[in-house]
Amino acid sequence: MTSPHRPDDFLHDLRARSAAEGGVFWINDGLLAVFEPEAARHVSRTNWQGFVMPERGLDLLRRRPSPEVAWTRVRTAWLTQLHHLSTAERRDRLTARMRAVMDARLGRRIDLVTLSQDVTVRSLLPVALAGLTPRESVWVERDLDQKLRRLIDRAPGTGPGHRLHFAAVQVRAGRVVRRVLRARASGRRPRERDLADPFVDLLPELGMDRALSVVTTVLTAIGGPPGSAAAAVLYEFARRPRWAALLAAEHQGTDEADFLAAPAGAAPLTHRFVQETLRMWSPPLLLVRRARGTYDLGAATLRAGQEYILSPHMIHRDRRYWNEPDTFDPDRFLPGAPHGPAGRGSYVPFGWAPKRCVGADLGTVQLMALCRLLCTRYRLTVPDADQVAMAFRFAPVPQDFHGTLALRRHVARDGTGHGG
Ligand code: HEM
Repeated sequence: MTSPHRPDDFLHDLRARSAAEGGVFWINDGLLAVFEPEAARHVSRTNWQGFVMPERGLDLLRRRPSPEVAWTRVRTAWLTQLHHLSTAERRDRLTARMRAVMDARLGRRIDLVTLSQDVTVRSLLPVALAGLTPRESVWVERDLDQKLRRLIDRAPGTGPGHRLHFAAVQVRAGRVVRRVLRARASGRRPRERDLADPFVDLLPELGMDRALSVVTTVLTAIGGPPGSAAAAVLYEFARRPRWAALLAAEHQGTDEADFLAAPAGAAPLTHRFVQETLRMWSPPLLLVRRARGTYDLGAATLRAGQEYILSPHMIHRDRRYWNEPDTFDPDRFLPGAPHGPAGRGSYVPFGWAPKRCVGADLGTVQLMALCRLLCTRYRLTVPDADQVAMAFRFAPVPQDFHGTLALRRHVARDGTGHGG
């Protein structure tokens, strides 16, 4: 393996090797690429089977065992909350929060990657951790922003001053989470229907450090992939006027209430557009995991302690599973399309069971809501959109992606952005 200097080269090398070597190959002595759908499914399932949360910090110090908490319990709690949150009314509130962020940036040239990030994080934060004061929200958002910048900026900050500032923000954000959990447990703050709330009841078993780690997992999850996916949606929308017009026609004929009740049923074309955007530009590009046991993957045996890489992107761009994988075509998701997915494991934008993304439905609905806003409320203008290049960092990131958002004429006139 050559030592690549840029993530783009690294990815390019991996793709070439995967095509030549069959999807499962050693990148170096301790790192196995698992880019073959069946092997990726198998290793995920086996590696996380029976996974329990690590011991509590305090118990490690005192050399005593912690109460065992299975990861499936954590996931069940998240999925139950998300199920309660998937109503038309909640989707309406999510869209209103997205609108507020976009309305605040009308009429001037803006960085569309930053916009995508702000729209997703600010609208999803109350789903993850509701009832924060404005000051608390700022600390949590700052922490998410700095973590993302480290992953996507061309030249992320370095040096002791930067590291100190980074750690200080992280500590403040962690303190906010602890304070909220403690205040809810003692009745000083109301309980909320968010993804943090189930862990208030589990605090005696989990302990504060494990509860913080669970909430941080969700915060990190909303801080990265949703914003990258939203940037990719804007990128495809700006570069494909034909699809933008088709989507606009769909939304003009779709009632807001129907859309909020069942987005994929009410706007199937938009759903395909989002699915295809996620196929082309799946974030994160690479997921690095450590093997907890020894697994025979046919082409290689992975031993406990060695690391492996999974990648939805590599599978989505592999000619063995997709016809013309580099061509953007939402119609490949029409039932029976000849260029559709070769099998169930070949479309995996949300990863693999039992660690598959718990926010898959919400994330998809949010991207569809973004498309609807672009079709009914805003006019997005991106000069020379076809010149915008996509760079590969932790996720695909459009480079120098700037444009303007304006209200559509009928919205400016009567203040509504509802289609139909
Ligand atoms: C389009 C948007 C999104 C994309 C592309 C995405 C993608 C992913 C991926 C690839 C994983 C890793 C799965 C694996 O390890 O196999 C993941 C995990 C996760 N995602 Fe998402 N995600 C999105 C939105 C969301 C949202 C909106 C939430 C929460 C409301 C969320 C919460 C999580 C959580 C909690 C995990 C960790 C699951 C676990 O460790 O068991 N995601 N996501």
